[in-house]
This record gives sequence, structure tokens and C-alpha cells, in this order.
Amino acid sequence: MAERIKVTLDEQDIPRQWYNIAADLPKPLPPPIKPDGSPVTPEDLAPVFPMNIIEQEVSTQRWIDIPEPVLEKLLIWRPTPLYRARALERALNTPARIYYKNEGVSPAGSHKPNTAVPQVYYNKVFGIRRLTTETGAGQWGSALAFACRLFGLACRVYMVRISFDQKPFRKMMMQTWGAECLPSPNPSTKTGRAILEKDPDTPGSLGIAISEAIEDCVTSPDTRYSLGSVLNHVCLHQTIIGLEAKRQMEKFGEYPDVVIGCAGGGSNFAGISFPFVCDRIHGRDVRVVAAEPAACPRMTMAPYVYDSGDVAMMTPLLPMYSLGHTFVPPPIHAGGLRYHGMAPLVCHLRRLGLIEAVALPQLECYEGAVLWARTEGFIPAPETSHAIAAAIREANRAAEEGREKVILLNWSGHGLMDLTGYDAFLNGRLQNYLMTEDEMRRSLAAIEGLPKPPPL
Ligand SMILES: Cc1ncc(COP(=O)(O)O)c(C=O)c1O
Repeated sequence: MAERIKVTLDEQDIPRQWYNIAADLPKPLPPPIKPDGSPVTPEDLAPVFPMNIIEQEVSTQRWIDIPEPVLEKLLIWRPTPLYRARALERALNTPARIYYKNEGVSPAGSHKPNTAVPQVYYNKVFGIRRLTTETGAGQWGSALAFACRLFGLACRVYMVRISFDQKPFRKMMMQTWGAECLPSPNPSTKTGRAILEKDPDTPGSLGIAISEAIEDCVTSPDTRYSLGSVLNHVCLHQTIIGLEAKRQMEKFGEYPDVVIGCAGGGSNFAGISFPFVCDRIHGRDVRVVAAEPAACPRMTMAPYVYDSGDVAMMTPLLPMYSLGHTFVPPPIHAGGLRYHGMAPLVCHLRRLGLIEAVALPQLECYEGAVLWARTEGFIPAPETSHAIAAAIREANRAAEEGREKVILLNWSGHGLMDLTGYDAFLNGRLQNYLMTEDEMRRSLAAIEGLPKPPPL
């Protein structure tokens, strides 16, 4: 019998609770605040989110039950398989053992439905009939479109213009599930009109699309807004990834030395890593690495500040590493990583020294992704390629040091709707974008007058 390369869990082994890392933080997370420095109250958030989700957002309960109707839908594709990347290991000639959790098997093709399904469910229970959201690469928009279809809610998605143009198939997926998909900035919103007047050719950004989706939400009846990353409840829902992975690694007889996830708004990274960060907080020796684009280097270059999650400053101020909410990231193909900020929980862990971060240039990520496709077979999303490139660096280091190492990475999604990026790479049309100190200083000018987070 050949060496085992994957572990699948039985349906009955699906985790029935999410893990809330807020219960285990050695120091509490600074709260979201308003521009005058006062804390945000649940009532402030009520026009945007239903109260049952707001309660989860501020909860410090360690384990939170997954409602039965949510479990029933998650079972469409969960538990997801955990693989050993044996062919990649051989190609790299490394003593490292590389494992990956394949979140690309969901109907939308990524980890995003793990939170779309519970978010839509909680909105439905609260009596909401329509959701608005933004999407970068289109993964989140298609996940929410799919989940809204499951529970019978209407859905409108503002899709960052560059991705809308680069990835027409994502729009078609959303429409197939019955959602509307508009390019952002869009003339139908006040924010969109103002931005288009100044810069009609803007590629757009997640920060702009969030402003438009929130504006639509607060000006429409029976509508709430849904965010695919960044917030505490989104990170919470994604922990099902790491909880499953832990059991699967046990079945392989392994525990990781290093856990890696790519980081856009931080949710898939949180999902794979928080159950392991919990072990680290309780004394276990495990490294946890967030992989971000060098074009958008928040945890490796930016300051820890209070900043808004969107361009029009419609969200509260969140404590995070931020490039400034007016920053429009360069048009890298990993659209889901083009964001100026990062999940406050992930940033807090970084600040506490419980996780590390690494910034990777676009070309190195595509080299890794193509090697992956040619060894493991699955074609990764451009976002996922950042976790792959970081894992390859770790595996190469293990080879140089002649040391065994167990690497676990989150394979956050497939790239079958992102082939234009592969085409550009294979034909030599892609370039690296590295952010300079000067650019960062300029983009940070937008947040100079905002309150500062307290020292640790
Ligand atoms: C496949 C994939 N991976 C990763 C990300 C990054 O988001 P997050 O950091 O919230 O996981 C995205 C976002 O669109 C994505 O589509």
C-alpha cells in the first residue's frame, strides 16, 4: 500500500462548536471606537448587522455552538480533506513534510462559505430579507450568493472593478445563484459617484466597495450588510478549518511545527491557525505564519493604529496594522489580498508575538503556484499561492538545515476562475510591486488625526 496522502473525516465528525480565541487572549483586544475615541456600542452597529451577529462579535465565550441548520448546510462540502503534499516535497527535495487543508472543495471554491452560511442564517433568523456585500476576487461574493440562495435571501455584491474586468466568470457564478453583481466604484451609490468623478479609471479597492455596500444597506429596507473577513465573528466561523485539521493531523500521527495561511483580511489564516495559537498560548511549541503580499504589506511594514475599514469611513475605527484607508493597492491578481487593514484579532496576536508575518512578491507566488499545480495537481487561487510560497520557503530552509519539519498550510481556494493571472504569468506579463517607505508615508497621511491605540 502506498504512503497515505489524505485524511477525510466522517460527516459525523464535523466540529459542532466554533473556537473563540477571545477567551484565551493573554491581554484583551482593544475595542472598536468612534472617531471621537468613545467605544462603539451594539446599538451603533445595529443598522448594519443583526443583533445575533453583534453578540457573537463581542462574545468572550470559548466555545460557541454551531446551529443545526448551519451544520446541515456545511455538510454539503465539509469536513474538507487534509492532504500530504508528497509530490511537492519530492520536487523540492526537502526533509520537510508538508500538509494542506483543501478548502477549495466548497461550492464557491474557497473557505468563504464557512462564514457566509452562518451569517446568512443569523440574518434570516433575525428577519432580514436582503444582504449587501463587497468582493475582491469574487470568492466572497460568490460564497454569499450561494449562501443567500440556500436560505432564500436576496443579495447584491459590489465587486472591485479590476476583478470584475479580470474575472467575468465569478460574476456569472453569482448570477447563477441568483445574486446581483455590480462593478465598484458604481454610479448607483454616492460614494461610487464621488470616486468616479475624481478618477474614472480607478481599479477600485475593497475599501471603496465596502463603503458602497454599507451605503446601500443603510439606505434600503430589510437589508443588512455582510462582511467576508476582518471581523471577530468571521474569524470565529472559520475556526472549523483548524479544528478539523487538528483531528486530521492526529490521524496522520503528526503535529505541525509551523502553520501557514495567506492573509487578506485575515479570516482563513485565523481559521486554520487559531486552534493552534490556543495551544501556543498554553505552552506548546508551534510557529504560526501569516503570508501577505509585498504589494500590500500590513503586518510586515505598516504601523499599529486605529483606522477605518473602508474609504468613506463608514465602519468604526478598528485597532489594526493599516496602510491607511485611502490606500488603493496595486493591481496584483490576488484580489482578495488587496486590503489596507487586517483582522484586529490577527493584528493583536502579531503584536503579542504569538504569530509571525512574511511578505511575498507576486512572481514568487506564481512560481510556487505553478510548481504546485504541476506536482499536486490542484490549481491554487492567487491568494492561496502566498501561503504556498511561504511554505516553500520553510521547506527549502529545512532542506538547507538538513532538518525535518512538519508544515501545515491552508489551501484557501482553487484558481479555476483566476486563470487570466496564470496566463499573464506564463507569458511573462506579470511584475512585482513592492511598497516603498515613501508610498506608505503618503498613504498614512489620511489617518494622522485619528486616535491612537493604547500601549500593550
Ligand atoms: C481563495 C482566497 N484565499 C484567501 C483570501 C483572503 O481573505 P482572508 O484573509 O479573509 O482569508 C481570499 C479573499 O477573497 C480568497 O478568495
